[in-house]
Formats: sequence, C-alpha cells, structure tokens
Amino acid sequence: MEMIRLTIDGKEYEVQPGRNLLDTCLSLGFNIPHFCYHHALGSVGSCRLCAVKMYIDAGDPKGMIVMSCMIPVKSGLIIVTDDSAVLEFRKSVLENLMTNHPHDCPVCDEGGECHLQDMTVMTGHNARRFDFKKRTHLNQDLGPNIYHEMNRCIQCYRCVRFYKDYAGGKDFGVFGAHNNVYFGRYREGTLESEFSGNLVEVCPTGVFTDKTFKKHPTRKWDLNTAPSVCTHCGAGCNIIGGERYGTLRRIMNRYNENVNGYFLCDRGRFGYDFVNAPERIRDVVIKHENISENTNLVSLLPSIIGKDKKIIGIGSPCASLEANFALMSFTGKENFYNGVSKKDFSFITTVLDILKNSPSAPPSRGEMERSDAVLILGEDILKTSPITSLAIRQAARNLSKKMAAAVGIPAWHDSAVRTKGIHLKSPVYITGTQSSKLDDIAAEVLNAPAEISAQLGFAIASYISKKAPETVLPDAALSVLAKKIADDLMNAEYPLVISGIDAGNSALPKAASNIVHALAVEGKNAKLLLILPECNSMGIGMMGGKDLDDAITEFDSADTLVVLENDLYKRLSKEQADELFGKFKNIIALHHSHNSTTSAADIVLPSGTFAESEGTFVNNQGYAQRAYSVFQAKEPIMDSWRWISDLIELSGYEKSRWQNFDDLVNDMVRVFPEFLKIAEILPNADLRISGQKIPRQTPRFSGRTAMNAKTNVSEQKPEQDTDSALAFSMEGYSGIPPAALIPNYRASGWNSTQAIYKYIDGADGSNITGDTEAKLIEPLSGKPAKFFDAVTE
Ligand code: FES
Repeated sequence: MEMIRLTIDGKEYEVQPGRNLLDTCLSLGFNIPHFCYHHALGSVGSCRLCAVKMYIDAGDPKGMIVMSCMIPVKSGLIIVTDDSAVLEFRKSVLENLMTNHPHDCPVCDEGGECHLQDMTVMTGHNARRFDFKKRTHLNQDLGPNIYHEMNRCIQCYRCVRFYKDYAGGKDFGVFGAHNNVYFGRYREGTLESEFSGNLVEVCPTGVFTDKTFKKHPTRKWDLNTAPSVCTHCGAGCNIIGGERYGTLRRIMNRYNENVNGYFLCDRGRFGYDFVNAPERIRDVVIKHENISENTNLVSLLPSIIGKDKKIIGIGSPCASLEANFALMSFTGKENFYNGVSKKDFSFITTVLDILKNSPSAPPSRGEMERSDAVLILGEDILKTSPITSLAIRQAARNLSKKMAAAVGIPAWHDSAVRTKGIHLKSPVYITGTQSSKLDDIAAEVLNAPAEISAQLGFAIASYISKKAPETVLPDAALSVLAKKIADDLMNAEYPLVISGIDAGNSALPKAASNIVHALAVEGKNAKLLLILPECNSMGIGMMGGKDLDDAITEFDSADTLVVLENDLYKRLSKEQADELFGKFKNIIALHHSHNSTTSAADIVLPSGTFAESEGTFVNNQGYAQRAYSVFQAKEPIMDSWRWISDLIELSGYEKSRWQNFDDLVNDMVRVFPEFLKIAEILPNADLRISGQKIPRQTPRFSGRTAMNAKTNVSEQKPEQDTDSALAFSMEGYSGIPPAALIPNYRASGWNSTQAIYKYIDGADGSNITGDTEAKLIEPLSGKPAKFFDAVTE
C-alpha cells in the first residue's frame, strides 16, 4: 500500500491512507480528546471534542478547526493539535458537556477508570461556571447486569450506536430532543441483547456500569488483574479478571483482534460468580470407607493409588491441555479417557479432520467481518458462539460499505455509510432448526431439520463444482435456494461458511466442508469455521485417545478412578455413569464446584477455577490461548495439574515430575509435537523485561498492608508466582508487556479502557507487542480437494 505524508505539530509522518485523522493521530501517540469515536463503531462527529487545526497545505494562511474524526487523511495536510484556539475550543466543549453532569466521581463506579475524567483533565476544564439547576433524569432498572445512572450522560451516543447499530439490539434507544435526551429502554426492564454488558465499556462515563461489580464493589485500581480466556464456549474470547480480597469482582474485555476484538457476550462478562459461590469446593473431602479419625489425604492415598493399583483417568474438554496431559501422564495413555461420549468425540474428530484438510486456515475475527457472503449451515451461532454472531452481523454490512465506498465514503464514516446503504445487506444465509435473533440480518432463512440443512449444503457444493458429489433435493424451492446461495458464494470475494455440531448431525460440518472445497476447486479462497461446544473441545480432539464409552466397555473393574473437572452425569445417562463408577473401589474427583460426580466420589480434591489456575485452551479457530491465574486461591485449592503432580508423588512413582508450569508444558510438547507452538510462542515464566516481572496490580493499588493487618501489621512479602512472568504485586515492568501477558490497560493520561490505543496498531488493529495466541491449524494448500459423500444422518 502506498503511504501518504502529512505534517502533525511540525513533524512529518508517513501514514496509511483511508483512515481518519483522529484514528491516525491516536495511533501515532498524540493525545487527542474524543468521546463519540470508537475504533469499532466508527465516526459520527457528535461530541465535537476531537478538534484539531487543519491547514490544506503550506500556503493556507489561516487554517480551520475541524473534527479530526470526520476528516480523511490526505497527502500534504498540515495539522496542529495544540493550537491555542483548538485547546480553547475543546475546553469549552467539555465545559458544555459537563453542565448537567453530577460531578459524583467519589461515589461513581466508573471513578478512576473514567474516560470523562481523563478527557476533563486532558482538556484543562477545571472550574465550574454553570450556576443553575442541573437537568436530572429518572434511572431505569435495566436488569441484573447493568446499572443505569442517566444524570452522568454526556450524550455521546456511543451506547445506542453499539447496542442498536452494532449489536442489533431492539429494546434500547434514544428518546427526547435538544438538550434533553435520554438513553434507555422504552419501558423499564431487563436489557434483552446478548451483548448488553459492552455498554459498560463503550460508555465513556458512569451511565452504564456493571451491576454485578456493585454487589462487591472496590475501586478499580485496587484490583489484582490478569489476562485470561473465557471458558463458557469454544470461541475463547480474551478476558481480564479482577480480584480483591480473594473474590473475583468482574470480567472485562481483553482486546484480541483475531478473536473477540473489543467486545464480549454477557455470558462471558457476567457468568463469573461461580468462582465466589457457596457451592465451591474449598476443602479436601474424604468419604472413603477406610476413614478413621486420623485419616488424612497423605496417609490414605498411597493405599489407593500405589504402584500396584490399576488407575483410570477421565479428562475433560473444560479443563486445560496441561491438566488433561498431567492426568494422562499419571495413568498412562492406555488408561486415560478424554471425558466426552463416543458420539461427541466422533463429532470433534470429524471437525478436526475437516479443518486439518481444509484449503484455508479457520478465519480470524477480522476475516469473518470482512466476508461478503456468508452461509451459516444448521448451527445457532448466537447460542453456541455469540461473539461469532457479532462478527457476522458486521459482515452483513459489507454491501453498504461497498456502496458507500463507490461514492467516496470511507467505511469508518459510520453515519454516512448507514445513511447511504442502510437497507443494503451482504448476502447472509442462515439455516437451522429454529429461528434466531440473528435472522434479521439474513437474506434468507431456512428453518428445517438438520438433515435438510445438510442436504442443502451438499447440493450447494455440487452447484458450485461438478467435482462435488451430486445431490438431489426433495423439492424445487430448496433447489432454487441452493442455487442462489451457490451463486452468491461464487460471486463473493471473501466467502465464509460456518457450521457446527450442536444439532447433533455430523453431515452438517461435512456439507460445509464440501462447499469450501468446491469453492477452492473453482479458485475461491473460502473460509470455514466449525463451532465446537466447550472451551477446550478442540484441544481434547487434538490430544486424541479414548472416550467415555470406551471406559464403560473396555474393562470390568479397576482400583481407582480419577475424574478431572468433569461431571459425568451430564455426559452419560445416570445408568451409564452409575455402571462406570460401580467398577471402581475408589473414586477421586478433582473439581472446583460440587456436582453429581463429586457427590459420588470417595475423595474430592478442590481445583482452582480459571481465575485461580494457569492453563492453555484451544478455541474453535485452532488458537491455543493461555489463561493466567488472577489470584491465588486459599489452600488447599490448587491448579488441577498440581494435585495430579502430588498424586504422582504419593503413588510412589517418582518425585515431583514438574517443578512448575513450564516443566509441564515442555513435557507435554515432547509427547504431543502438534503443541510445539505453545511452548515457542506463549511466554514462559522466565520472561523478564528490563529484569522485571509484569505486575498484576496498578501503581495505585492501595491497602496492601492494611488488608493483611489482621494477621501481621508489617507489610508482607507478596505471594510468589513461579508459573508465569506475572507478579502478584504493584512493582514490576511499567511499559507495555507482550500481548499475551497484558493484565490491564492504562497509559499516562488514560485510565479508562480507551488506553487501548497505546497497545494496538490502529492501522490493522494488531497488538503492537505481538500475538496473544499460537495458531495450531495451518492451511493445507496444494492438496487435492476432499469431498464427503452426500449422506445425511
Ligand atoms: Fe470526533 Fe466526537 S470524537 S466529534
């Protein structure tokens, strides 16, 4: 791409064309105040805060104040960001926006992490002249997740632009006019969007705050925070957990341009309180028949897991690769079962086989958003991978953006693009057993049984390429639809096919695969995404091995069963689970929360949740991503792999096979070379930057002496983290760490999540300090197309 040159504050810069001035200046490190602009939402020019002085060229004597978010960069432009008239303009705009603001920072949940606070300081507005009664509003109860405080609103419109325009919500809007506008619901009630929690982050002040955080409030700068991965589905959205006093207080988005961008779904953001729940297992539970008053774990375990015992391990697609591998190492591969039923495992291996033989790698989030024709075949992605549905909602706008570009309107000019092509949708086709809230973006929807969707898919492939197996559809209307979808996919520049296994029919991913191979035969580089149900389904598939049905049939009896973070009563019928458990003299369950399996176990060992453990998970895109412990749980809660390491030692086999997490990872990649990139790309515990670890706490973290004063009035040494390059401390490296280790976003003058501009390259949205994931599935170019027979189940 040919770069252009412009001058900012007397210095010449080479920048990428096609972007706006604000975005460009922010990327170059200039602190330009702004409210309504958001990198994902684009520009509407409503707040008037991003003013700069622009001179058309060196001959322009006066220049003019412009809103930088509305100006495309052009060669030769001369920009002044700190002109006195500009500074005065921004200050007066801020003062105007603040006339009705309640100035309630000391009691506001946004305080200390507030974009409005930052902008007020940045513009220099520091004295209040407005001497009249402030306009006030009634707040609404918006349900259990979002707290509403309308008086703090500065009318930037970000909330409604995200909720309605970006996420497709229908029950939220803006009401009123002039200087009296109201952002909320028509009637009080719970917000219906699956993405409502993002209001907390897009709102630049405290109008929408996290109600779950309010239940156990703390100042934001007093949190221990660490990079983590959401474990609620297979999408693997990147998150930041925040802890204080041993409880997980909130989840925030962690930017990853390839997975979730700036946003999370509500399940991921608000579904964290199980970490603090009374149902948590916080102690070792021993219900063994040989128990006496003096029995403890160390005295009991050697007799049930000793060298002479046959021990069976059952892993889990909800546990990390490392925890599964640790259990497999303990029991031996021949005695390890991966914790999913035969049927589910066959689906997972089918998906993995398809992806390994696919002509292209699974798409990144950016590639999904760029798609100009999409087929969602038989999978309700709003349910099974919500963040993917958000990406597809953006893909549906590509025709609008294309139309706008044809008349010179850039994609970032959000208001103009929507005005130009508001009714124009890129072709998105959705098939599924029932309707979905995503249907509103579809060119056509087919609600039909999974077999019909699969037949349709096979037919589409055969219409695209004669090499694909021919399929006869049961009626003419379906044939017309198949032909239409085939034509749209063929005519697209970036076709995308999505399917999955939620409907319980492996013909669906096979049909999706046929379509992508047919497109490849015809010279199209189509992308294929297949949705798996759990956070490490893909990882379990890559490890291979035997399944739960094998465990039921392969042996009649054994001494001890060890179940890792899995409730087998949810995967098998009660009769099957009882039959399986009946084969063992002893059952040991590792889990963080009580369930039917822990009830059936003789010994229960308390595992850490994702917030108290370190581990790697492989998502639907084949990205291995690491979750780091946000805080150290109280003993005896530990990472599952540490429990297993202790079991190995107590069994008498060897002493402490793994001293730390890296030992375990290195051992794992020796046995599973397909995971080698994990060891190569994800940072290990030895990493130091300028000789320092990366602190989980902000420099403003307070009360660390007082919080432990009940046990010792002297300041205590922080807990040590031997498993990662992160420290449970406020001391450490203060710059921007490697992307996989970013524990929070902050920069000089930027205390809100808007500081993210200092962490990413605005041009392509990538993290400036590298990747957060190791990509484990590579495209298999040059191989002949592989077509499945057009058989449905
Ligand atoms: Fe430019 Fe609001 S950020 S007008």
